[in-house]
Amino acid sequence: MQARWRPNSSVFTQSVACAGENLLLAFHALGLGARWLADPLYVPDVVRRVLSLPKSWLPQGLVIAGYPGGGPRPRQPARLAEIVLER
Ligand SMILES: Cc1cc2nc3c(=O)[nH]c(=O)nc-3n(C[C@H](O)[C@H](O)[C@H](O)COP(=O)(O)O)c2cc1C
Repeated sequence: MQARWRPNSSVFTQSVACAGENLLLAFHALGLGARWLADPLYVPDVVRRVLSLPKSWLPQGLVIAGYPGGGPRPRQPARLAEIVLER
């Protein structure tokens, strides 16, 4: 029997990650540099207070963006075989 799909907290977390990635891509398309920071996960009370968020909200991340002063440092691309399993 096929397992019935039901949202749970992991699904919500994945949804936030997808939205965050889209935001990063949108900033990139506009010529901005952006970074995702998970720091708000560690200080949720502070973030809720500073941003006046409802108590029921759990801050998941912070996206910072700005115009880069220069290009990115050259770096070795990851070797796909080390991070991807093909089946
Ligand atoms: C899910 C996720 C959470 C992250 N959280 C933090 C964070 O809380 N603080 C931080 O300094 N960098 C964090 N990073 C790393 C930055 O977003 C960024 O990828 C990193 O600074 C890249 O630097 P680089 O381009 O110089 O390698 C996180 C990255 C990911 C993917």
